[in-house]
Amino acid sequence: MTGEMQAKIKRLKEQNDVCILAHSYMSEDVTEVADFVGDSYALAVKAKSAPQSTVIMCGVRFMAETVKILSPQKRVILSHPQAGCPMAEQMDADLIREVKKKYPEYAVVAYINTTAELKTVADCCVTSSSAVKICRALPEKNILFIPDINLGTYVKNQVPEKNFKLLSGGCPTHARIEKGDLIQAKKLHPQALVLVHPECRPEVTDGADYVGSTSGIMEFAKKSEAKEFIIGTENSIVQHLKFACPDKKFYELSKDLVCHNMKLTTLPDVYACLKGEGGEEIILDEDTRVKAAKCIERMIELGG
Ligand code: 13P
Ligand code: SF4
Repeated sequence: MTGEMQAKIKRLKEQNDVCILAHSYMSEDVTEVADFVGDSYALAVKAKSAPQSTVIMCGVRFMAETVKILSPQKRVILSHPQAGCPMAEQMDADLIREVKKKYPEYAVVAYINTTAELKTVADCCVTSSSAVKICRALPEKNILFIPDINLGTYVKNQVPEKNFKLLSGGCPTHARIEKGDLIQAKKLHPQALVLVHPECRPEVTDGADYVGSTSGIMEFAKKSEAKEFIIGTENSIVQHLKFACPDKKFYELSKDLVCHNMKLTTLPDVYACLKGEGGEEIILDEDTRVKAAKCIERMIELGG
């Protein structure tokens, strides 16, 4: 059944000039039909150069908005209308305008996990894989980092030459993980290296052997000489790594590392999008799009 549906999807996307982009958190059956799979930075870059007239983004809303912001001439479909990132909704543009009044000399650096509207008040965007590099490269010495306090703390520690102000937003999935989970996982698997996402709390990232984006974690595990790994990001990455490296062992840092929004998109949803019976077309107000584009373009320029 899965194979039959995948074959139909592949046929339809060719016929209808559709590019399927999938975030690394998508399930294996969805990533198998995608034209490109990656972390949020790679998806943003790829979105710009995809030649197809329609893009189906299998991920969450801010990722589909990013594609539309960078490629307004394309039809962009979010794979599941309910798939949002809770962190992206935690702060709005009015709040940040107020904070900016208090700290006028600070550049606003927004994690890409934000709404298009919030990006209109940011000076630059970053993703988990590009945040350290971009904050270092920015000419501004003072940075107001929004909304993720955990990623912000991680970047602040890596870039001590700059002044950071942080607000207290974050990812409910990664922030759920506590030091006790790390101690427990290490006790169960003492030989394993610990690879975690920077959205985790500092007490978790401090105890890790590697901190990086979803793609960064996968690359590290594939290239490493080590044979066992504890994975501290959404548990789909554990599944992908088990497929990719059957000779290595991968363990979940916690069974609670589940993003319910990323889990919404199924293979039948992708099929429904291709038949014009599912998903949601992303429509953005042009003024918002143009303003939001500036900080994403700056991210790509500085991120390389
Ligand atoms: P990446 O930058 O690793 O793709 O992370 C996006 C995200 O939502 C992680 O929870
Ligand atoms: Fe958002 Fe966290 Fe889900 Fe990533 S894992 S999409 S940051 S809620």
